[in-house]
Amino acid sequence: MKKAFIVGIAGQDGSYLAESLLEKGYKVSGIIRRNSTVEHQRNRISHLGDIQLEYGDLNDPTSLDRALRLFQPTEIYNLGAQSHVRISFDVPQFTTQVNSLGVLNLLEAYRQLAPEAKFYQASSSEMFGNSIDEDLFQRLTTPMNPVSPYGCSKLYGFHMVKLYRNSYGLNANNGILFNHESPRRGSNFVTNKVVKTAVQIKLKISKKLELGNLDSHRDWGHSWDYVRAMQLIMNQDTPDDWIVSTGETRSVRQLCEYVFGQLGLDYQDFVSQNPKYLRPNELEYLRGDSSRIRNELGWKPKYTFESMMDEMIEHWQNHFANGGEA
Ligand code: GDD
Repeated sequence: MKKAFIVGIAGQDGSYLAESLLEKGYKVSGIIRRNSTVEHQRNRISHLGDIQLEYGDLNDPTSLDRALRLFQPTEIYNLGAQSHVRISFDVPQFTTQVNSLGVLNLLEAYRQLAPEAKFYQASSSEMFGNSIDEDLFQRLTTPMNPVSPYGCSKLYGFHMVKLYRNSYGLNANNGILFNHESPRRGSNFVTNKVVKTAVQIKLKISKKLELGNLDSHRDWGHSWDYVRAMQLIMNQDTPDDWIVSTGETRSVRQLCEYVFGQLGLDYQDFVSQNPKYLRPNELEYLRGDSSRIRNELGWKPKYTFESMMDEMIEHWQNHFANGGEA
């Protein structure tokens, strides 16, 4: 029987991945961190009946050992991270402990206790920083020059996964995923912040939206499509590194224009810039070349940018219609 162990199971991607693997007949397990408000931590996975959860943390090697001994996974997914780029400037050491040393802790546990398993590492397009090829795409051969503590910490994890693959013959894979969103996205990431506040403005429970850089560009896909890519990557016999992206890019301003437009509003009447949301250093432009995973593994996103944003708008409309918290 296939047994998946997911670090970060309570997050956006972890919850979609767990759902999808359960549908395919996997036994699914994961670790969650102890939190004083347990409901907040499990709200993305509380609808999934059949998962095994233990307390654990990427920074607590004994908890990783214990989980691997207990669950004996055939597939290990590391989706756990301090994943907010702006916050990584506030807490660079914590970010590095989780996103760099945490990966090393998990790789060591994997090497020693479950070396026959396959391993997936959530690597990030933030690793590229402001490097870009002449045709305005990023791909595996594009130099990686991160411009945030988050990007630096992820680059360490990326290289350690390759090192463990090459040194110990492990089936360890990197998925370099460009931004991916959904109604389950945390509302301090820009897509869900814009959608949630725009819906609040429409309902007159909010008056304005303050953002940082409106001119940065991102390649935004849907988390549900991207966890399908993770599974295709893990179904290969030979370990490798893969780019997952839509190949389209839009600015934060275009995002605002679309979302407010769908609600019959002009974003310019409500959106302003607050320096507090600017980053000490900004990655300006992301657009990924995912032709390899499309051609070799047959992956193709089902969501468009528009259908994804529409789903997120509907989510927040239903949330407030049902008396959900602002
Ligand atoms: N969060 C946020 N809040 N971002 C803002 C705001 C704001 O008020 N205003 C403008 N932005 C801009 C950011 O400066 C950035 O250029 C862009 O919106 C996207 O920001 P985020 O949604 O926070 O995502 P990110 O690109 O920094 O990072 C995400 O994508 C990475 C992959 O490239 C995260 O999911 C990372 O974990 C992931 O690795």
